[in-house]
Amino acid sequence: MDVHPTTRPAEGPLIDTFGRVADDLRISVTDRCNFRCTYCMPAEGLAWLPRSELLTFEELTRLLGIFVGLGVRSLKVTGGEPTVRTDLPNLIRMFRRVGPDLDISITTNGLLLDRLAARLAEAGVDRATVSCDSLLRHRFAEMTRRDALDRVLAGLAAAEAAGLTPIKINTVVIAGTNDDEVVDFARWARATGYEVRFIEYMPLDADHAWERSKVVPAARILEAIDRTYPLEGANRGIEPATTYRFADGAPGAIGVIASVTEPFCDTCNRLRLTAEGAFRSCLFAMDETDLRSPLRAGASDEDLAGLIRDGVWAKWSGHRINHPDFVQPERSMSMIGG
Ligand code: 5AD
Ligand code: SF4
Repeated sequence: MDVHPTTRPAEGPLIDTFGRVADDLRISVTDRCNFRCTYCMPAEGLAWLPRSELLTFEELTRLLGIFVGLGVRSLKVTGGEPTVRTDLPNLIRMFRRVGPDLDISITTNGLLLDRLAARLAEAGVDRATVSCDSLLRHRFAEMTRRDALDRVLAGLAAAEAAGLTPIKINTVVIAGTNDDEVVDFARWARATGYEVRFIEYMPLDADHAWERSKVVPAARILEAIDRTYPLEGANRGIEPATTYRFADGAPGAIGVIASVTEPFCDTCNRLRLTAEGAFRSCLFAMDETDLRSPLRAGASDEDLAGLIRDGVWAKWSGHRINHPDFVQPERSMSMIGG
């Protein structure tokens, strides 16, 4: 029996036609970045948005308030690189005011955390997720095109000291580039207590260099780690990551985000707002809803909430990476917000 409504509800949770309820929002606060990761940006960077096209702090906060009213419970602040947005701690303070109970985390490359972690924590960020693709200085520099491993490690220490815990690490695994390091990363997780989450390489790079042969299946990553450090307790919640504990009780955890080989679209609860105010119901969506124009033309909160409900209702069943007709979206990762 079909229990889902057949027309878009005017109230209640943010539901789509497949019965999924969206309550997790990522807000990209800037399209700029101080890294140039090969799997995301071209070496020369991208044409940045002019300032006038970025949502202001007031606009971002107003939209967040509307999303909270629609049932959003967790917020991930992303970019580009969120910490390059001027005055980010003040924006977080404004976010915290409209969402006192929100789980607020920041997804960052960690470069500026040594300076910002304490202020972000004080402003209301609960947790940090830091990208780190290699523990080898030269490889880190090759993959991010910045020789900054030491600074990121210092940023991690600052995040920990500031209480932005539990700390999660995002590691994009690319065949032939850093797949020989997965066991080293597991050892690091045990030593630090971090949850290291390996992400399958997705076709979202600006250079369009993605190839299926460069994807390392999550199952293979887990096998490699399990051989050295046995894992247990697979936990597949609402998060995209499936997480495991170390069977010997060591601290830390391992997660895998198998977006390509084991898509989790059927339980997806995520929504995205880009830095210029486009609402997207999927990382790979081919269309998006412009919220900035109506916002600047004087739309009411109810009007904007209606547009968001329409956008969620129109969400497709899932990405088509594994279909022969797959087309890579025009926007790459830094323009959408991870
Ligand atoms: N494939 C997989 N993950 C990616 N990220 C950026 N580009 C890609 C890609 N093409 C990751 C970043 C960051 C997270 C938000 O998304 O490393 O950790
Ligand atoms: Fe910057 Fe993140 Fe893209 Fe790397 S993946 S270039 S840190 S936005």
